[in-house]
Amino acid sequence: MSKVAIFASGSGSNAENIVKYLKERSKSVDFHFFTNNSNAYVNERALKLDVGITLFSREAFYQSDKIIRLLKQEEFDLIVLAGFLWLIPENLVEAFKGRIINIHPALLPKYGGKGMYGKKIHEAIVANHEDETGITIHFVDANYDEGKIIQQVSCEVLPSDTADDVEAKVHALEYEHYPKVIAQLLDLLE
Ligand code: GAR
Repeated sequence: MSKVAIFASGSGSNAENIVKYLKERSKSVDFHFFTNNSNAYVNERALKLDVGITLFSREAFYQSDKIIRLLKQEEFDLIVLAGFLWLIPENLVEAFKGRIINIHPALLPKYGGKGMYGKKIHEAIVANHEDETGITIHFVDANYDEGKIIQQVSCEVLPSDTADDVEAKVHALEYEHYPKVIAQLLDLLE
């Protein structure tokens, strides 16, 4: 049995997709969600999916070792960031070295770094008339969007695409590829 912690700050559509994908394939995986946002839709998704969710404060995350202790106590194999917007503190990166992954909705190193997330990225892609974008799945280190890249997949951006169109294309890539990478990593880790 593998244990996966999924951190999400917003809607949680990736979190839901990962749980459904892995459960459908009858992988023996246990999930738990973590969020910093009590208003985020990921809280409803957790209820619907019957997955536990832990809400934590900025203070607990940055000024204490509460979250690290919890993650260690529960023996999580993998920590998956899925639209989680806070920087991972160095002590957490150290405690789970090589076991924290993130998905970024662009082709890093382009459109990465602090303040570059979600819709803002897709708006910048359109404003800059980029002809391609995509996703980057990478290991997490203590800097935003800089860890070792595991996989990148690109898609075309048409001159007529709006930020919503780009977001839909990128989400489709995320839903297809992120769960597969997680499944592969879990097999490697078992
Ligand atoms: C996803 O597109 C994810 O790649 C992005 O936020 C979205 C969350 O959607 N993450 C970042 O921008 C991190 N820098 P979701 O909550 O519906 O899964």
